[in-house]
Amino acid sequence: MKGSSSLNIPTSFNLHSRDEVGSTNDEVRLLAEQGAQDGTIVWALRQSAGRGRQGRTWVSPEGNLYFSILLRPTVSIAEAANISFVASLGLADAVRKFAPEFNITLKWPNDVLIDGKKVSGVLLESKANTLGKLEYLIMGIGINLKHYPEDARYPATSLLEKNTGSTLKPGEMLEAFLNNFDPWYKLWNKEGFGSVRVAWLDQAHGVGDKIYVRLPGETLSGRFVTIDQDGALDLDLDSGKQRLITAGDVFFATS
Ligand code: BTN
Repeated sequence: MKGSSSLNIPTSFNLHSRDEVGSTNDEVRLLAEQGAQDGTIVWALRQSAGRGRQGRTWVSPEGNLYFSILLRPTVSIAEAANISFVASLGLADAVRKFAPEFNITLKWPNDVLIDGKKVSGVLLESKANTLGKLEYLIMGIGINLKHYPEDARYPATSLLEKNTGSTLKPGEMLEAFLNNFDPWYKLWNKEGFGSVRVAWLDQAHGVGDKIYVRLPGETLSGRFVTIDQDGALDLDLDSGKQRLITAGDVFFATS
């Protein structure tokens, strides 16, 4: 791939660029199994088998950004899930750089919205060692620069639709993300989830509002109170009970 060596990114990242892969998450897994270090990245122009959360397909034509980062933080498996929120903060900063005039918010657990429409997604995969300790995390990120799905379960958009009309190059967005993610990742490594949680809540979409949470087999409705100290969504159910959600799809009553 042309041009990737000219990106201005923090030295802690080691970038591998490809034209096409199945899924960048799978490419990073292969490198991880060969002992690759924290900060190893695979970026591809296209994916033939891109994956979304909850087993969905992430359609990946050329023009958008697709990459995965190998991370080996020294945290427990439970704490590792917080990286979703760390990624979202870096994503929001990067998206805001190119679309400063729009309302950029964060949807639990890790989507970035422009004026209420999804522009990026994060797929986290992890491996534990035989002692049950985290061995590595793979953080796969897709950002809609040029294309977006019209038939998605949620309203979606792209930077091109919202922005100036000129298409952003994937490398420009990758550079912006890595430079914005790096300080949040360092802060999280040093201080834990506390300040990340506060910064995420500050930009969160729909706190205090009525939401629906789709879980396998049921849909809950209630008020989105906050996220707890571990990142679980705290929902005041319409029935009056409280429920902490660790995985699910959020829909807003009004979007
Ligand atoms: C979501 O469902 O919102 C998460 C989408 C994650 C897509 C990215 S694109 C790069 C990486 N490789 C994949 O196969 N998926 C992630």
